[in-house]
Amino acid sequence: MKPIQVGLLGIGVVGSGTFNVLKRNQEEIQRRAGRGIEITMVADLNAARAQELVGPDVTVVNDARAVIANPEIDIVIELIGGYGIAKTLVLEAIAAGKHVVTANKALLAVHGTEIFAAASAKGVMVAFEAAVAGGIPIIKALREGLTANRIQWIAGIINGTTNFILSEMRDKGLDFAVVLKQAQALGYAEADPTFDIEGIDAAHKVTLMSAIAFGIPVQFDKAYIEGITKLGAADIKYAEQLGYRIKLLGIAKRREPDATNPTEGIELRVHPCLIPAKRLIANVEGAMNAVVVQGDAVGTTLYYGKGAGSEPTASAVIADLVDITRLHTADPKQRVPHLAFQPNAMSDLPVLPMGEVVTSYYLRLRVADETGVLAKVTGILAQAGISIDAVLQREADEISTEAAAGQPQVPQTDVIILTHDCMEARMNTAIAQMQALPTVLEPITRIRKEELA
Ligand code: HSE
Repeated sequence: MKPIQVGLLGIGVVGSGTFNVLKRNQEEIQRRAGRGIEITMVADLNAARAQELVGPDVTVVNDARAVIANPEIDIVIELIGGYGIAKTLVLEAIAAGKHVVTANKALLAVHGTEIFAAASAKGVMVAFEAAVAGGIPIIKALREGLTANRIQWIAGIINGTTNFILSEMRDKGLDFAVVLKQAQALGYAEADPTFDIEGIDAAHKVTLMSAIAFGIPVQFDKAYIEGITKLGAADIKYAEQLGYRIKLLGIAKRREPDATNPTEGIELRVHPCLIPAKRLIANVEGAMNAVVVQGDAVGTTLYYGKGAGSEPTASAVIADLVDITRLHTADPKQRVPHLAFQPNAMSDLPVLPMGEVVTSYYLRLRVADETGVLAKVTGILAQAGISIDAVLQREADEISTEAAAGQPQVPQTDVIILTHDCMEARMNTAIAQMQALPTVLEPITRIRKEELA
């Protein structure tokens, strides 16, 4: 049988990895897919460089629409990125009856509902394994491997740049800004790292996972997003002393109603998080990714690997090509739905506002080291119904040696408090009250804590 023909839009890092792996492993891939898979056409703005990469047998153009218009092309791989032209091209490819493979998490997290609906109406597949956690087959695991389960929660380190920065901060005791500069110099962080360090990239990915895990529509606009830019070396050190590590997590959690709280819904959030140092995921270092999924039948499962890079991401792209090659002639109704659940059986469980999220907290208060300060702080927490789990007070002399020249010599200390679970809205009120105390000298640091048990 003639190989299935693939057109590639954008041959950068992932595109060239896809081309090379497909070529290198073609015999093995064909034995799995039951048919050859060939990239026969590439569109790239730098056509000369693209031609050099793929050699003379592949048609190279600089107009992506020429690929979409080619009736010989069965599958279009979109590796352009972003929400702009990529969206137009993906919708045009679908309209032209092409199956689409994409690594574009931003596009699907924001416009997924429209894109998947268009694909279903046309009877084509949009596959996106490469959009979440690079080479880790987490989409396949959630959509198929764990299909027996009622998923309870997902927690993932799904941004390698920020995990690299946090690992360096912990290892070397450095502050965020210093490590970011080093990471940029080493090529680990982009020149404009906003999407990574502000948690937006992780939010795109966890939004996609939440849809597949709970059968809800993709709702990036409802995700709570907080990055790592405000984390200091001191908090990482205190967390360590308390037996925790700080990681940027993407969390999607099902809230079941219970006797104390009738709220039902999905928590969808990205923020730095204290997690027990003994958990496997706490030991995921550098640019690596990992996702923990808890299902009611399977229990806790962990997926670990490279979340970015040429061939790891190509591994995911090619897995999708093989899936489509096997399934494109099947009745569309028999295929695995894009978001795991049948489109007419999606859940209307709401994504909960952050104020309704229930979690525990790490608080750090820089306070004047005076009699009664701790009593006032703990009194506010008690009045808010927030139960304290642990308190750590840093030695006052350690702090005073750090006081900057010219600052008033008030004896200061850091009070670190770990709380039990409480609703975020309550904690917001308590923090505002504590912040108003004249003895609280700096903005209070609040980092959420997850036991991941
Ligand atoms: N910039 C991402 C990361 C990789 O640092 O993990 C692509 O999603």
